[in-house]
Amino acid sequence: MCGIMGYSGHRRASEVLVEGLKRLEYRGYDSAGVAMVENGRLAMVKRQGELDVLQGALPRLEGRTGIGHTRWATCGRPSDRNAHPFLSCDGKLAIVHNGIIENHSTLRKRLEAEGHHFTSETDTEVVVHLLEGHFRGDLRQAMADTLKEIKGTYAIAAVLEGSEEIVAARKENPLVIGLGVQENFLASDVTALLSYTNKVLYVMDGETVSLTPNGVAIFDSEGAQVKREPSLVSWSAEDAQKGGFEHFMLKEIFEGPNAIHNTLLGALDLIENGEVLPRTDFQSVKLVACGSSYHAAMVGKYAMEEFAGVPTTLELASEYRYSPGARETPLVILITQSGETADTLAAAREARRRGCHTLAVTNVVGSTITREVDEVLYTRAGPEIGVAATKTFLTQLVAMYLVAIRIGYGNGTLSHASMRSALSSLRQSSNMVQSVLNRTHSIEEASRMLDRAGHCFFIGRNINYPTMLEGALKLKEISYIHAEGFAAGELKHGPLALLDATTPVIAVAIKGDHTYEKMLANISEVAARDSPVLGIGVEGDTDLGRLCERMIAIQPVEPVFSPLPVTVALQALAYYVARRRGCSIDKPKNLAKSVTVE
Ligand code: F6R
Repeated sequence: MCGIMGYSGHRRASEVLVEGLKRLEYRGYDSAGVAMVENGRLAMVKRQGELDVLQGALPRLEGRTGIGHTRWATCGRPSDRNAHPFLSCDGKLAIVHNGIIENHSTLRKRLEAEGHHFTSETDTEVVVHLLEGHFRGDLRQAMADTLKEIKGTYAIAAVLEGSEEIVAARKENPLVIGLGVQENFLASDVTALLSYTNKVLYVMDGETVSLTPNGVAIFDSEGAQVKREPSLVSWSAEDAQKGGFEHFMLKEIFEGPNAIHNTLLGALDLIENGEVLPRTDFQSVKLVACGSSYHAAMVGKYAMEEFAGVPTTLELASEYRYSPGARETPLVILITQSGETADTLAAAREARRRGCHTLAVTNVVGSTITREVDEVLYTRAGPEIGVAATKTFLTQLVAMYLVAIRIGYGNGTLSHASMRSALSSLRQSSNMVQSVLNRTHSIEEASRMLDRAGHCFFIGRNINYPTMLEGALKLKEISYIHAEGFAAGELKHGPLALLDATTPVIAVAIKGDHTYEKMLANISEVAARDSPVLGIGVEGDTDLGRLCERMIAIQPVEPVFSPLPVTVALQALAYYVARRRGCSIDKPKNLAKSVTVE
């Protein structure tokens, strides 16, 4: 899982590459490097560490053609040697790679026996040696021949000394071309291109690309040239910047209401006219995802049963693909904000193999999942750079409600009036999220309760049980405090043994929810063990207030939609704790935004 950037044109390539790689650092940031054609020869600089380290080491380079890479180690630890690019033995070719070469050990043994000298522990390096072996003056042909020998997944870009051409290829890893005037770009993601162009061509699996300042040619796996119309990306370069916020994560939390609003655009058409799921007579549904997206799926299960009356099961994508699949569900919904998560992609393929109808919920147009499923529902959160999912998670919740309402309306569980009323409440949720954000100073104050904690518990019931799992995940991934989420009723079956005055408990109890009284009882049990309780509930709820040391208040809300405002409060809570602890909020250690390994 890494970021790739390529450029050939009239600008100084090193500057374009570094600028693009900055936008791709969310894909990995343990080392970075560039290689470019400088006075006809290849110049390469690569360093372990974040991009700043590379930038500090870069001399002024004049070359106009080059490739760059930001890495998240999968094979070979982070180091200067294992950083990309890699050079051929004669130093005439350089490549960068994102993905995994599964047969690298066999290939390496053979290449070493043939006299190739390896400089790294990576799987990637075999690619440049294969390319060198196949090169007879035509780089694209050499790439095509190399790909025949490789097993695995990849996005690869290569440059050759004395040439303006960049050759690239992809299989199950994203690659997009940016079109300019007498300049062209290549990147893992459109966010890296937006400062230069919004005209893009998506590269598909199995294709190779030849890119020069004056043109781009795409070829299919048989070598036939492919004609493709460019797409225009509506995201602006500014969308992908921090916009005055200290961290991308905070900016993205504050973009939540707008993201919800955009995702709901056209919702009535979508539901009434069946723009997704024209068929809704499913006897059961399965939701499949990883990480935060799995928590969105859990909320989706409650929504599906509430609005559509359809029995719904859940599976982690990494488990689904290996499950026996004996009682397969007719509809499998795959939720992945990036659309590139390897386990979720594999699950999508497996679901289709089992004959299920597949629907993907994703935020990234043109991402791999969109080509692996029967139908796609896009969330419209815009680019999310912070590694921790925030606004994309909110929009996944919205998508879950939309799908549930669509199926419920289609199968007759919801009348026209109840469908419209559910939609109108959902629209209100964007204002509720905004009202939470208007009071972040009180969340920041309340978050001080967690400052000295080594462990935290998050408890909720019913549809807010997954919300609290997500709250715990957010806190642990960005603040490194150990946090666990529990269904509140489960505490007395074990976890209560861990509670004492040093373990804060964050508890949500929404007045009006049928589990509200039970939640108050659970909170009393916690308070009786001296654990400080931070409550989340509706404003004016004095019963909850009495049981808690502090309270974060949200506007009164229909319980089924309460995960939206509650989630944003938990995101802000985690953010403020992590900020005071001086953590690397946008790029937490050991994590990456797009998990393209299984
Ligand atoms: C946590 C987080 C991850 C992702 C997970 C799945 O904040 O972002 O847990 O939710 O890696 O990613 P997607 O949704 O891209 O499939």
